[in-house]
Amino acid sequence: MRLVTYAAPAKIILSGEHAVVYGKPALLLGIGYHCAVTVSAAKRLDAPLPPHEQIVLDVVRNALKKEKHPLSSEPVSLSVENAIPIGRGLGSSAAFSAAAVGALLHWYTGKEPSKDRINSLAYIAEKHFHGNPSGADNTASCYGGLIYYRKEFEFLKTISALNAKLPAVFENRLLLIDTGRPEESTAKMVQSVAQRYNSDPQGSDRLLSKIEKCTKRLVVSVVTEDAELFGKCIQENQEHLQALGVVSKAASAMLTQLAGYGVGKVTGAGGKASGGGYLLFYCTDRAATEAYLRSHSLPFLPVVQDIHGVHCRQSV
Ligand code: MEV
Repeated sequence: MRLVTYAAPAKIILSGEHAVVYGKPALLLGIGYHCAVTVSAAKRLDAPLPPHEQIVLDVVRNALKKEKHPLSSEPVSLSVENAIPIGRGLGSSAAFSAAAVGALLHWYTGKEPSKDRINSLAYIAEKHFHGNPSGADNTASCYGGLIYYRKEFEFLKTISALNAKLPAVFENRLLLIDTGRPEESTAKMVQSVAQRYNSDPQGSDRLLSKIEKCTKRLVVSVVTEDAELFGKCIQENQEHLQALGVVSKAASAMLTQLAGYGVGKVTGAGGKASGGGYLLFYCTDRAATEAYLRSHSLPFLPVVQDIHGVHCRQSV
C-alpha cells in the first residue's frame, strides 16, 4: 500500500502576535512538537473526510487543477498523529495544514514539494480555518528555526530565516506553562483586537508601534545574546498584550504567582474569558522554576527548537 507522511512543527511567537495582523513584524520559533499526516488510498467503506481534512484536500486539488496537473480521482484517506496541544497558542492548526498540504502535494505529484509551495497553500487552508490570519504561524511551521515575518500586503510578505539558532542561553531558560484552553478561537481573538482598533485607532496604532519596537529589540537581544534585554522585551511585550486585551485573568494570575521565578508572556492569540493558552516563561533559574511548577501540579513543557520545519517522514 502506498503511504506518504509529512510532519510539521508547532511554533511559539516570541514577540509580535496580533500586531503581525496589522503589518507589524513578528519573531517566531519552530518548536519540537509535531503534527504528522499520512496520506493513503481510501478503502471502500471509509467514512468521508472530516471537514478540516476535506478543506486541505480541496485546496491542494484546486491548485493542481489550475496548473493542469493530471489528477487521479482515487479517493484518499488522511491519518493524523498530533503531539501539539490543540487551541493553546502553539500553532496546531498551522502545523496540520503544512503537514497535510506537504503530504497531499507529494501524493499527487510523486515528488517532494518546496517549502515555499507548501507554505503558500497552507496559508490558503489557514484562511479557511481562521478568517484573516497573518500567515505567520504556517510560515514558522513550514520553515522552522527563528523566523522574522512581516505581511505588508497579501502579495508582499517578508520571511527572513534568521541565520542564528535561538542561543542555548535562552532556549535552556524558556518553559511553556499551561494556563488552560482559551474559550475563544484565534479568529475570535483577532476579531476582538479589531474591535478595539476600530473604537480607538490612534491609541491602538501607538500600542502596535510599541510592540513593533519590542519585536525589533528582541531580535537584537537574540543576535547579541543579551539575556537582560531579552527578559525586558518579554516583560514589556506582555504589558502591551495586556493593554491590547488578549490576556485572560488566568494568565495574568499565573504570571503574578510566578513573579519570583522570572518573566513571561502570552504566546499566540491569547484569551479573554477563561484560559490564556500557554505562557512563554523565561526563568531566572530553570531547576527551581520546574520544582515549583511540579510541586503545585502546574503543567509545563520545555521549549526545544525545531530547525527543520515541514518535512517528508516517509514515502513508500
Ligand atoms: C496566532 O498564533 C497569532 C495571531 O497573531 C494571529 C495571526 O497572526 O494570524 C494572533
